[in-house]
Amino acid sequence: MDNRISITDLKAKKKRGEKIVMFTVYDYPSARLVEEAGVDIAFVGDTLGMVVLGYDSTIPVTMDEMLHHVKAVARGTHTAHVLADMPFMSYQASVEDALRNAARFLKEGGAQSVKLEGGARIAETVRVLVDAGIPVMGHIGLTPQSVNQFGGYKVQGKTPAAAARLLNDAKALQEAGAYAIVLECVPVPVARMVTEKLSIPTIGIGAGVQCDGQVQVFHDLLGLYPDLQPKHAGRYADVGDTIVRAVRQYANDVREGRFPTDKESFLMDERVFTDVTHLA
Ligand code: KIV
Repeated sequence: MDNRISITDLKAKKKRGEKIVMFTVYDYPSARLVEEAGVDIAFVGDTLGMVVLGYDSTIPVTMDEMLHHVKAVARGTHTAHVLADMPFMSYQASVEDALRNAARFLKEGGAQSVKLEGGARIAETVRVLVDAGIPVMGHIGLTPQSVNQFGGYKVQGKTPAAAARLLNDAKALQEAGAYAIVLECVPVPVARMVTEKLSIPTIGIGAGVQCDGQVQVFHDLLGLYPDLQPKHAGRYADVGDTIVRAVRQYANDVREGRFPTDKESFLMDERVFTDVTHLA
């Protein structure tokens, strides 16, 4: 069995003042790279729908699609904690749905924990999952599965009332047994307040540096889509441009007869070669 980072290790990091590094990853090759880079949490987010499957939101993502990718990420990692995102309507309709679907991520997918969007209104669901032995990460602030409710991808918690709601949601999730909480697109002072008031770690995305950890989306941070740059995502590489340049070079070399060269070919002594076309 792999010796992976546990939720106890993650909670201990907050106590020691060590930052937690969480990064989305959706398939086997990127899981191997992310593992080699030493991230703490390899997170199979339902952003899968947008950055890998080409949907225009996370709403259409299904359990089967998520499971397929969670399994690949579990195979590609050995020390990172694998966190699976519960897709839209896999946990909202009933606690039974939530339990059955979350269990699939651990039993079939090889994940160590699951993430759910929502605050106080899903606290009871979180409690049931945790009681069943399924570690849960919460997610509040901008919760993309509620994009239609929010009327767009907007910063949350900007008014005193909204900030107070956010803090209550965070406390309800902690009380219900969540081991950490994502704060997405929350103003810096609000995220700092929530982080200080909780004993469990906060993981920020567009929520400032004072969160206990950070999460970013693979394709945003590495520049897979050169024309897509969310404000909260840093740009650490231009992998998209690098791929286009390399494939264009390959295409040119094929068309011009420059590829393959002898180096990429299997040669044999022409004197040993016998032309057998007459036998065919
Ligand atoms: O699905 C995802 O990638 C997420 C992050 C934006 C936190 O939930």
